Amino acid sequence: MLRVCVCVSGGGTNLQALMDAIDAGQVTNTQIVRVISNNKGAYALERARKKGIDAVAVSPKDYGDRETFNEAFLECVDAAEPDLVVLAGFLVVLPPEMIRKYEGRIINIHPALIPSFCGKGFYGLKVHEAALARGVKITGATVHFVDEGTDTGPIILQKAVEVLSGDTPEALQRRVMEQAEWVILPQAVNMIANGLL
Ligand code: GRF
Repeated sequence: MLRVCVCVSGGGTNLQALMDAIDAGQVTNTQIVRVISNNKGAYALERARKKGIDAVAVSPKDYGDRETFNEAFLECVDAAEPDLVVLAGFLVVLPPEMIRKYEGRIINIHPALIPSFCGKGFYGLKVHEAALARGVKITGATVHFVDEGTDTGPIILQKAVEVLSGDTPEALQRRVMEQAEWVILPQAVNMIANGLL
């Protein structure tokens, strides 16, 4: 059974997609053992609690400096003894020590087709604003392993989504989430849980 710790910062729709896929038997041999957020008010924590999953907030605001936050955050991850860490809408830079310790066992969902519209400053709605500004006709989402860079680790899965004329950033974000993110994140976890990668 693959023990999964999911890190979230906001609404948690990717977390929800993963939980639903596990319940539906589309993702097997997997258990979400802990959900951690840097944001106490993240609705993602509520989603976890409703499913009876251990949900913890570790907020940088509660720590004097980044160092002590990093230590507390890594301790919270370690305590769950995860086999895999999933970053699902997680907006905090991971402690370098955590990247080393969990090398090859951290994955992230990015709302664009890496290497497009990724890297520093490209998160959430900004990604879709950039795609619309560039006028691309196809965008999508990427699941990749996390390394010490930003959105630079090996790509696991990608799924393309059409950009429609008249799209607002919000409409495009929604379509990318529904048609791509919520599909490939569970798929990637299932592949890892069942040795298919
Ligand atoms: C979304 O923009 C998603 O593409 C990105 O983080 C944002 C929030 O995701 N990964 P979620 O609803 O919290 O999963």
